Amino acid sequence: MTLKLILKHPNDQLLKVSEPLSDEDIKSDSTQRLIDDMLLTMNTEKGIGLAAPQVGVHKRLFVLDLGDGPIVLINPKIISRSTRMIETTEGCLSIPGVWGVVARHKSVKLKAKNRKGEPIRVKASGLFSVVCQHENDHLDGILFIDRADRILEGEEMLEGAEAII
Ligand code: NI
Repeated sequence: MTLKLILKHPNDQLLKVSEPLSDEDIKSDSTQRLIDDMLLTMNTEKGIGLAAPQVGVHKRLFVLDLGDGPIVLINPKIISRSTRMIETTEGCLSIPGVWGVVARHKSVKLKAKNRKGEPIRVKASGLFSVVCQHENDHLDGILFIDRADRILEGEEMLEGAEAII
């Protein structure tokens, strides 16, 4: 496994829309290796989520780990969103040292494929929901600083982010 270089804002690569993967592409050695490399990179950098475009690969794929083991979501689609919102102080591995308060849907349902190419459905709430929305945004070239109600500065900053995603 290889540690990947995480692209840092500002970088046009982070603003591009990623492409879906074919079933053949999902099963390919290069995609399987990419998934392993992304998991290693996310864990090493102490993030809880990482999307492929953050390592310069414009494919619709992200990984996350909330402490219960790795989850890989390929070609994810958010199929429903709660009307209730939650606010989280988010950070991003691509925007080091910047925290922002972002309102996201408290829960979402997604359909996706796992790393074997099997269709899966995921019901995410709380932090899990926040991470899925943050990572799904990366696949569309959207960064949390575009969605933040406010960016933390000064003393507030010292408290840090609740989640580096
Ligand atoms: Ni991020």
